Amino acid sequence: MTSVNEVVRQVQLRLSQAKIDSPAAEAAMIISHVVGVSRGKLGVMQALGEHLDSATVERIVDLVDQRAKRIPLQHLTGETTFYGVDLKIEPGVFIPRVETEVLVETTLEHFADTTGELKILDLCTGSGAIAAALADQFGRRSVPTRIWAVELDPTAAELARHNTRDYNVTVLCADATKTAAVIGADPELATLLGTFDAVVSNPPYIPTATPVTQTEAEQDPSLALYGGSSDGLAVPLRVVDQAARWLAPHGFFMMEHDHTHAAELAAMMRQSSTWHKVHTIRDLTDTDRFVSALRAE
Ligand SMILES: C[S@@+](CC[C@H](N)C(=O)[O-])C[C@H]1O[C@@H](n2cnc3c(N)ncnc32)[C@H](O)[C@@H]1O
Repeated sequence: MTSVNEVVRQVQLRLSQAKIDSPAAEAAMIISHVVGVSRGKLGVMQALGEHLDSATVERIVDLVDQRAKRIPLQHLTGETTFYGVDLKIEPGVFIPRVETEVLVETTLEHFADTTGELKILDLCTGSGAIAAALADQFGRRSVPTRIWAVELDPTAAELARHNTRDYNVTVLCADATKTAAVIGADPELATLLGTFDAVVSNPPYIPTATPVTQTEAEQDPSLALYGGSSDGLAVPLRVVDQAARWLAPHGFFMMEHDHTHAAELAAMMRQSSTWHKVHTIRDLTDTDRFVSALRAE
C-alpha cells in the first residue's frame, strides 16, 4: 500500500522531469482516472491520508510512463471535457482544443436572446465536440435546437455519433466541402439549403508548408490538421463557400483558422457581397484565430 499523497508527489515529479506542461493537473487527471474517482474526491482521499493498493499504483505508473513518451493524455484516459461536456476520445480522431471553446462561446452570445428553434450546421465535426457543446448549452437554455454535424472520416463520424447521442444531432459521414455529398448523406437537407441559422466550423487549416512539430499534435490525423494547400487555405475557403449556401439571410457564420489566414480571409469576405459584419476574433492566447460574419440578404 502506498499513500495517495506519495503517489501524487511521485507522479508530479515524473511528469515534470518529462517536461509535461501542467504536471500537477495531469497527475491529478491520471490518478483520478485510474482510481475511478473525481478530482475533488481525489483531494478528499489525500486529505484523509488514504492509501492505494500495489495493482492500482502499477496501473498509474504504466500510464505515467506512456505520458512521459508524450502520448496525449486524452488517448490514455480515452476522454476529455469540452465546454463542460464529457467526450469519448480515440486515437486517430482529432483531440478538441480548449481554444475552440471561444467559437462555442461566441455562437452562444450571438443567439443570447433567441428563444425560437435553431438549425445549426457543424462542418468538419471530428469528435462532435462543437455540436455536442452547442446542443448541451442551448438545451440548458431551453432553446429548441437541431444540429447536423458533417465529418469525412468514418471513424471520427462514428465517435461523433457516440458523443452526441443524448442530443438532437444528426451526424453525417460526408465531404463537408461538397453540397451534393452532404445532401446525398441526408436527402432532407435538400429542402434546407439557405435556411440555417448558423454554420460553425473548425476545419483543417494548417499550411502544408509548415507541418506541426509538437509531438502530441503529430498524433492527430493529417486529414484533421492540414488545410489542403501550402498556405492551408484551400479547405477553409471551401467551407466559407459552403456556409454561404446553407445559411439563411442574416445567418451566423464562425470558423476557426490559422493565425496567418486572418487578414486574407477577413478582407476576402468583406469584399464579397455575400457577407456583412465580418470580424476577426482572438483566441485565449490573444492570437487571431476565428472569423465570424453574417450572411447578407
Ligand atoms: C481540426 S479537426 C476539428 C474537429 C472538431 N471540429 C473540433 O473542433 O474538435 C478537423 C476535422 O475535419 C475533418 N475533415 C477534413 N476534411 C473534411 C471534409 N472535406 N469534410 C468533412 N470533414 C473533414 C477531419 O477529419 C477532422 O475531424
